Amino acid sequence: MTKVAIFASGSGSNFENIAQRVQDGRLDNIEITALYVDHDDAFAIERAEKLNIPVHVTLPKTFDSKSDYEQRLLELLKEEEVEWIILAGYMRLIGPDLLNAYEGRILNIHPALLPKYKGIDAIGQAFESGDKVTGSTVHYVDSGMDTGEIIEQSQCDIYPDDTKAQLEERIKNLEYELYPRVIAKIIR
Ligand code: GRF
Repeated sequence: MTKVAIFASGSGSNFENIAQRVQDGRLDNIEITALYVDHDDAFAIERAEKLNIPVHVTLPKTFDSKSDYEQRLLELLKEEEVEWIILAGYMRLIGPDLLNAYEGRILNIHPALLPKYKGIDAIGQAFESGDKVTGSTVHYVDSGMDTGEIIEQSQCDIYPDDTKAQLEERIKNLEYELYPRVIAKIIR
């Protein structure tokens, strides 16, 4: 069993999808030690409770520095003997403390065909661009924003009459297949 932690900040639908697959055996040899969140109102917390997965709520603003915050996360990760960190909608750059401990063992999913549309509202950026194709990317995490080495991408069409919400749903559906597939390939 490889022990992983999943980090999220908001809705947590990718977290839930991965956790369901672990629990029903479609994603085997992986143990999710806990969900780590940086907001106490993240909907991901409710999803974790339904799945009986422990949650660590660690609020950055209660620490003096980013380094202190990440050192607290490292304590938890160490206690749980976590080997890999899976970012799933975690809206924060990973700092040197976590990177030094886990570099090469942190994955992220980003809802665009990187290197296009890094950063915030990638789906909106693609939607406004006039591009006919977009998608999602799983990559290793480095110190930049969505800059780490690309592992795998999935793509989908952008139709002329799409709404942004429709495009977002299409991308999420890609992600629910892409992320578990990469986790199985890279981590398991
Ligand atoms: C996903 O689209 C992911 O690509 C991005 O943040 C979104 C998280 O969605 N990094 P959810 O919280 O998993 O629903």
